Amino acid sequence: MTDRTSLTVVLAAGEGTRMRSSLPKVLHPVAGQPILVHVLEAAPHGEGTSLAVVVGPDHSAVEAEAKRLRPDAATFIQRERLGTAHAVLAARDAIARGADDLLVVFGDTPLISAATLARMRAPLKEGAALAVLGFRAADPTGYGRLLIESGKLVAIREQADASAEERKVTLCNAGVMAFDGRRALKILEKIGNANSKGEYYLVDAVTIVRDMGLEAVVIETSEDEVRGINTKAQLAEAEAVMQARLRKAALEAGVTLVAPETIFLAADTKFGSDVTIEPFVVIGPGVTIGDGAVIHSFSHIVQSSIGKKALIGPFARLRPGNSLGDGSKVGNFVEMKASTLEAGVKVNHLSYIGDTHIGAKTNIGAGTITCNYDGFAKHKTTIGAGAFVGTNSSLVAPVKIGNGAYIGSGSVITKDVPDDALAVERSPQTNREGGARRYRELKTGGKKPKEK
Ligand code: UD1
Ligand code: MG
Repeated sequence: MTDRTSLTVVLAAGEGTRMRSSLPKVLHPVAGQPILVHVLEAAPHGEGTSLAVVVGPDHSAVEAEAKRLRPDAATFIQRERLGTAHAVLAARDAIARGADDLLVVFGDTPLISAATLARMRAPLKEGAALAVLGFRAADPTGYGRLLIESGKLVAIREQADASAEERKVTLCNAGVMAFDGRRALKILEKIGNANSKGEYYLVDAVTIVRDMGLEAVVIETSEDEVRGINTKAQLAEAEAVMQARLRKAALEAGVTLVAPETIFLAADTKFGSDVTIEPFVVIGPGVTIGDGAVIHSFSHIVQSSIGKKALIGPFARLRPGNSLGDGSKVGNFVEMKASTLEAGVKVNHLSYIGDTHIGAKTNIGAGTITCNYDGFAKHKTTIGAGAFVGTNSSLVAPVKIGNGAYIGSGSVITKDVPDDALAVERSPQTNREGGARRYRELKTGGKKPKEK
């Protein structure tokens, strides 16, 4: 830990044209979270830290995402894209406040770690004016090359401006820089645009620091940590690196992944102890899995919490908003959304459970459907504890089934069923005549449809 204050400036104003997408580049997901979120999470947090995000003029969604994750973030708009140094100076007001350390991070490098950023701040404490993050590139084409003379970093040369000899250098600029915060503005303001592209290059800070008689140092890291995303192919590569990291971390935490390379996790997946995940499972954002739970093959789970010793799948689909109690079972071909199962509930086969609350130990028979949507709005189904719903029943919401009630197979339940009652209802009538009429009117533009 450090007692020095910091400002992190995240550059996210690039257009990302090479992604060929209408979504701003930094909002594309990696492991279930926008690229930008990974970067913001790596940035220093808490007391003595501040954050500035530089966005493009048409990027209000990027601004909103930054504020959602870090309400303390200041956002700045770079109106013209005149280069990386120009982008940093969009945050001039924040830099002028003079934090001890100024970190500049690119918004499109989601694999960067908090530990590396901390490592870059160390030389500043020792008196260096600038620390540059370097890496050995398997193929350096396109990267700025770090030019070292007598063991000292003297310049960074962009590909377009590099000589044939300089292009052979494989030690490359990752893009992350740490400045002595009190000197940063003076350094940044000296950067000009006399290069082949006529852009203000942040990399020129190195020569300027040298000319000022100050020290610039290199901190090295692995190529995997600094992969920048410019294309969909690079997005897929970053996803692969991130998944490998998440699987490794899960295994180290004691999760059994039967075939790790077939299991997809999200950056925020939380596991209890003794969790088992069978092959071919996809876990999206916002999932918590309790102690001893088993996720069988081919299940797809997002934004749900799974209780202790619960058994899920195979072939279960948990959409957002579910809470599954301890010891509950959600079997094959069951889809659930925004529903709560209390402890010990079983939904073993072929069901849709949406906007539903089910009390403890209730058994839901195969093929039970909660009919939560009438074409206009969603409605709630409430099922008590210890109830039994027979196979192939339709529960037409809004509807309440009491504790201990017994619903006969094939029932279409349109009215509330009291506690402990027996309901065997096979009427095709629903409680939705009104809704059905309005729906038909909408489809036929108000004209009365021909009766058959
Ligand atoms: C940059 C570095 C290069 C380094 C490489 C690492 C410079 C001049 N070059 O090149 O040395 O090896 O990254 O990936 O710094 N951005 C803005 N506004 C601008 C221009 C860029 O916000 O006007 C942002 C982009 O959104 C992106 C980042 O700055 O997040 C880097 O820009 P990019 O154009 O990708 O730079 P590279 O050519 O990759
Ligand atoms: Mg780039």
